[in-house]
Amino acid sequence: MQDIMFRYFAFALLLAFGCVLHHSHGTEVTVKDKDDKLCLYANLMVNFSVSYTTSENKSELAEFELPAEVSSNGSKCDATSSTLKLSFGAGHSWSVNFIVNGTTYQADDVTFSYNLSDSTVFPNSALNDTLSVNARPHITDISMDTCYSCKSKETIQSDMVNQTLWNVLIQAFIKNGTQSENLTTCAADLPVIPTPTPTPVVPVTNTTASTLAPTTPPTPTLPTPTIGNFSIKPDENSTACLLANFALRIGVKQGEKYQEMNLDPNVTTVSGSCGVNSSELVLVSNAMTVALTFTNNTNKFHLQAMNVTAKLSSGVVFSAANSSLILWEAALGSSYMCNKEQNYSITSQLNIFTFNLQVQPFAVKKGLFSTAEECFLDSDLSFLVPIAVGVALSFLIVLVLLSYLIGRRKSRTGYQSV
Ligand SMILES: *[C@@H]1O[C@H](CO)[C@@H](O)[C@H](O)[C@H]1NC(C)=O
Ligand SMILES: *[C@@H]1O[C@H](CO)[C@@H](O)[C@H](O)[C@H]1NC(C)=O
Ligand SMILES: *[C@@H]1O[C@H](CO)[C@@H](O)[C@H](O)[C@H]1NC(C)=O
Ligand SMILES: *[C@@H]1O[C@H](CO)[C@@H](O)[C@H](O)[C@H]1NC(C)=O
Ligand SMILES: *[C@@H]1O[C@H](CO)[C@@H](O)[C@H](O)[C@H]1NC(C)=O
Ligand SMILES: *[C@@H]1O[C@H](CO)[C@@H](O)[C@H](O)[C@H]1NC(C)=O
Ligand SMILES: *[C@@H]1O[C@H](CO)[C@@H](O)[C@H](O)[C@H]1NC(C)=O
Ligand SMILES: *[C@@H]1O[C@H](CO)[C@@H](O)[C@H](O)[C@H]1NC(C)=O
Ligand SMILES: *[C@@H]1O[C@H](CO)[C@@H](O)[C@H](O)[C@H]1NC(C)=O
Ligand SMILES: *[C@@H]1O[C@H](CO)[C@@H](O)[C@H](O)[C@H]1NC(C)=O
Ligand SMILES: *[C@@H]1O[C@H](CO)[C@@H](O)[C@H](O)[C@H]1NC(C)=O
Ligand SMILES: *[C@@H]1O[C@H](CO)[C@@H](O)[C@H](O)[C@H]1NC(C)=O
Repeated sequence: MQDIMFRYFAFALLLAFGCVLHHSHGTEVTVKDKDDKLCLYANLMVNFSVSYTTSENKSELAEFELPAEVSSNGSKCDATSSTLKLSFGAGHSWSVNFIVNGTTYQADDVTFSYNLSDSTVFPNSALNDTLSVNARPHITDISMDTCYSCKSKETIQSDMVNQTLWNVLIQAFIKNGTQSENLTTCAADLPVIPTPTPTPVVPVTNTTASTLAPTTPPTPTLPTPTIGNFSIKPDENSTACLLANFALRIGVKQGEKYQEMNLDPNVTTVSGSCGVNSSELVLVSNAMTVALTFTNNTNKFHLQAMNVTAKLSSGVVFSAANSSLILWEAALGSSYMCNKEQNYSITSQLNIFTFNLQVQPFAVKKGLFSTAEECFLDSDLSFLVPIAVGVALSFLIVLVLLSYLIGRRKSRTGYQSV
């Protein structure tokens, strides 16, 4: 309990100091607006890892840090969009755009340009051009007039370049030239306490009990999700080669928090591909992206992999994947069907719930589902389960009763013989 209290206070303290009194050893820059007032502050550390080709046609990796000495020329602040541009070395630069989004702001885009003719960084490079990569960091949902703080590492990957950011403190859209005392802390940094908001301290009288309590997920309060009819066509003139009808809900566990979300098929875009050995269905809605990979296993198919990315109500982007599933298995040339609610644990953090499911990822003829193989839950035999359990239980009771009677009899005869 004391530990929790301590962490709570440490967090509150951090809030009070905000951007202003923080100091770290990163690259620190300030940008002023046209009235010469402070409008953007940044203090951060970035490591770059760039893959390039040498004149011997070999692939090399250049690793370097954002130096402490940078120029902020080219940075600018506007009411709803700002740019932080850091130029360094022989023509390299790293810039971020910030945009206002209602009551929050976010980093929209990171552009990293590197000059391959800089032989101190890229010795023996085959090319001498300056190349650029664009990427989008997870620096989002920063409350206006607060400073974004993230000590944890975030790696932004693109084809040839990895950028690792850490010890980041950034405030864009600074009002009246005064930095905020309040922080928006990234999810990765948040201390593991029941509620990160500074509400009254949760009375924890028995820590064992309180950590055990939330493990049972609360009963869902969401409405049943809407059924979506998804299909993939190999090209525009053909009939579908993959069919999938289902309603989907996901349940995400993050620490002590559990959240459920429904896939809204009305705002879902469908893409994917049909293959001989593997077919893919990708569903993108505004709240989540779900990728399903089906495998053709000579005479059967099944769901092999599932990858879910979701934006949680806290603003955190959650991602989980499992590529060794064996679900929804049926014979090739038929479809798999399960009308009853099914609940699967995909990873320790992700559960899915499906309703009114029918899928056929291979061998679809005339764009229609083939004969369905129904799941056990749907089958007429599933009513036998409780009966079987009942029978087994009665059998057990009879057994216990019998042994009791035999025991009594024995002991009675034993008693009499004495
Ligand atoms: C960043 O790079 C430096 C030197 O290249 C290395 O010492 C350091 O461990 C790196 N830090 C991270 C977080 O990758
Ligand atoms: C460089 O190597 C790749 C394969 O590693 C090859 O396809 C390419 O033709 C080579 N280019 C030159 C200029 O030798
Ligand atoms: C790239 O580096 C070379 C060599 O250091 C330099 O001459 C050139 O001006 C640089 N390019 C840019 C755009 O700064
Ligand atoms: C870059 O390379 C091209 C050909 O590889 C060459 O013509 C050009 O002069 C080089 N530019 C610089 C600035 O070195
Ligand atoms: C980027 O990171 C990934 C994963 O760690 C690694 O596989 C890849 O080689 C890295 N790329 C570069 C250019 O460093
Ligand atoms: C910090 O947040 C508190 C509560 O949200 C607010 O009252 C205060 O004005 C904020 N301070 C600054 C400097 O923004
Ligand atoms: C805490 O709860 C556990 C299990 O509920 C119980 O065994 C234990 O005695 C409780 N401890 C205290 C100090 O109340
Ligand atoms: C689809 O059919 C139209 C007209 O029949 C044709 O012009 C078009 O090229 C076809 N598209 C494909 C991808 O086959
Ligand atoms: C989706 O659209 C259908 C018909 O277009 C409508 O009946 C249904 O209410 C919509 N569902 C949601 C969640 O908007
Ligand atoms: C499934 O894979 C087998 C080979 O493993 C192949 O012969 C068969 O045509 C495939 N079926 C479909 C529908 O692609
Ligand atoms: C499908 O798998 C079979 C056997 O596993 C293999 O022989 C065949 O080349 C694969 N086909 C494709 C298109 O990958
Ligand atoms: C899951 O999807 C996300 C985004 O679509 C991607 O970045 C990630 O690499 C995927 N993970 C796996 C294991 O496929």
